[in-house]
Amino acid sequence: MRRLVINTLAVISLCWSATPSYAARSQSELELIAAKLAADLSGACPQSSYGDTKAFQACAASLTQAADLPFAPEVLWGGDQPSLRIKKRKLTTFNSRVFRTMYLPLMSFTGRFSVDRDEKEKLDVIKLEAYFRNELPAGEYPYPFWHSADKWNAYETMNLVRLYLDDKGRIVVITRSADGTDKNRGEYARIRPPAFVKDQWTWVDEAGKQQPEVTLFSARFQAANPVMPALDKSYRAFATEMRQASCVECHNPSNPQGMEKLTLLQTPAHAAGEIDDVIKAVKEGSMPQDDIGLRKDIDPKLRASILRSAEAFRDQLAAADAWESNRVLMAASPAPVPVVRDPADTADARQRLRDPKATAAATPRDVKQRTQ
Ligand code: HEC
Repeated sequence: MRRLVINTLAVISLCWSATPSYAARSQSELELIAAKLAADLSGACPQSSYGDTKAFQACAASLTQAADLPFAPEVLWGGDQPSLRIKKRKLTTFNSRVFRTMYLPLMSFTGRFSVDRDEKEKLDVIKLEAYFRNELPAGEYPYPFWHSADKWNAYETMNLVRLYLDDKGRIVVITRSADGTDKNRGEYARIRPPAFVKDQWTWVDEAGKQQPEVTLFSARFQAANPVMPALDKSYRAFATEMRQASCVECHNPSNPQGMEKLTLLQTPAHAAGEIDDVIKAVKEGSMPQDDIGLRKDIDPKLRASILRSAEAFRDQLAAADAWESNRVLMAASPAPVPVVRDPADTADARQRLRDPKATAAATPRDVKQRTQ
C-alpha cells in the first residue's frame, strides 16, 4: 500500500514536470496575483486630477521604493498591436527600474482588474484599468511623447494596461490600449501639448534648467550624494563619445530604423538603464551599425574610448547607488557621531550626516526629490 502511494506520487510529479510550467498557475492563483498588483498600484498611484503634480510625485516616490513589484529585470513597453506576435511588435526595451520609476507613475490606477490568457504567446495576462496623466509639466515626462500626434493621442485615450507574466510570475511585457472603458476616467480634458522641435529630446527651460528633469541624476540621487559630480562628469564624457559614434541618431524615440525592440539612450536615465548592454554591444562590435544594419567599422581608438567612458560611467553609477543604499541602512540604525576634527564640522553638520533628510529639506528642489 505504502509503495502504491509513492508510485502514485512519482507519477503525479512526473506529470507536473512534463507539463509546461505556465499551466501550473491556476486561474485563482492568477487572480490572486492580479488582485495584489491592482491593490498595490492603486494604493501607490490612486486616481487624482490628471495634472496633480504632487499626486504624481507621491506615486513615483512609492513606486521607486517598490522594488519588490514582480517585474523582470528587463521589460518591454508600448502600444498594444494585438494583430502581431509580441516578437514582431514595436516595443521599447527598458531596465525595469527605469520603467517603474519614470513610466509607470505616468498612469493612475483605479484598482479594477481582470485576468486573461494569451494562447498565442502562452502567457498569462493581467489587465489593469489605468488612465494617463496628461497635464503634468513637460519635464515630468521622460521624453516629449507629443513628438508624434498619434503617440500623444494613444496615451491620452488609453484606459487599460496589459501585463504579461512569464512562467516564473515575472512581468515581462506591458502594453497600453484603449479597449477598456472610459466610464471611470473622471474629469479629463484633452490638452494641446507643447510644440516639439525636431530631435530635441532634451532641452533647457526658461529658468535655465536642463529638462526633462525626471531623467536627470538629481531625480534619482540625493543632492548630498558625494558621487554626483564625478557621476555627472562621467556621463558627459560618455555622451560625447556616443555623439561621435552617432548612437542617439538611431537610439531615440522617433526610432528612424524602425527597431522592433527599441533601446533608448538619449537622456542620463535612459543611458544609465542600458549601460550594461551598451558595453556588451560595443565590446562585441555589434554597435554601432550603419543604416542598413551592418556593423560599422569605426576607428579602434574611438571604440576603445567609447568603452572606457561607458565603463567609467557604469562604475560611477554603481558608486552613487552604493552610497544611497548605505544611507538607507544608516537611517535605519543610528549612525556613529563623527569625531569633530575642525571647526567647520559643527553640530549642525553632524546632524546632517546623521539625517540625510535634514540636508534634503534645505532647498525646494531637494524637497521635490522623488527617489530618496
Ligand atoms: C544606424 C543606426 C544605429 C546606430 C548608429 C547605433 N545603433 Fe544600436 N541598434 C540599432 C538597431 C537597429 C538595433 C536593434 C537591432 C539589432 O539587434 O541589430 C540596435 C541595438 C542596440 C542595442 C541593444 C541590443 C544589444 O545588442 O544589446 C544597444 C545596447 C545598442 N544598439 C547600442 C548602441 C550604441 C552604444 C551605439 C553607438 C556606439 C549604437 N547602438 C549605434 C541601430 C543603431
